[in-house]
Amino acid sequence: MPTPLPTDPLRQFTRWRDEWLAADAQAPDAQAPGSAVLATADHHGRPSARWVDVAYVDHGFVYFTNHASRKAADVAVNPTAALCFGWLAKGRQVRAEGPVSRLDEVESDTYFATLPRSLQLLAWSSDQSAEIDDRQVVRERFDAERARFSGQEVPRPAHWGGYRLTPEEMEFWQRRADEIQDRVRYRRREEGWQAVRVAP
Ligand SMILES: Cc1cc2nc3c(=O)[nH]c(=O)nc-3n(C[C@H](O)[C@H](O)[C@H](O)COP(=O)(O)O)c2cc1C
Repeated sequence: MPTPLPTDPLRQFTRWRDEWLAADAQAPDAQAPGSAVLATADHHGRPSARWVDVAYVDHGFVYFTNHASRKAADVAVNPTAALCFGWLAKGRQVRAEGPVSRLDEVESDTYFATLPRSLQLLAWSSDQSAEIDDRQVVRERFDAERARFSGQEVPRPAHWGGYRLTPEEMEFWQRRADEIQDRVRYRRREEGWQAVRVAP
């Protein structure tokens, strides 16, 4: 009889992430458990991919960035994206695809307030993805912003905020010793998630 599949992929995602946190994330060279490759496409359908840190997971995957960055410009014209997590020491990959929407200002403010001050200042100092002559440009701006906000809380800059990818499809891949890897794909249906096993 085939093994029954978990019914909720977001719960399954959390389980795998927590297993990574409990064991492999302790290694000094371990990647952060929430890091994933985010793929977007521009209005010509031209793809690009980069790592992001998924800050938290609720009914979707939430990441933060500069609204002027390439990834943000892409989802402004093509509001759908894909994320790929790889917990490679465990032989695991999780993929998620779906629409992306911008968080409201309050939710972005709330998360920004939890960041270390250095990252808050960096959000003010870096025109992410703009061409620069030298790193020194950003260093000087960082120092100027640090002086400007000295003795006060750093507010969230309007050009920085969060995005939520709400998955419509997810896929879990698990390496097996006999090379017949496990793949389970989920599709969101009106009545709930539908899970199917797919060939490796
Ligand atoms: C592990 C890792 C995590 C990263 N996390 C973020 C992130 O959460 N937000 C972000 O804007 N950039 C993050 N970056 C930098 C991006 O990969 C990328 O260089 C930057 O966001 C500009 O991308 P874009 O020009 O395609 O928008 C991260 C890079 C690495 C290697």
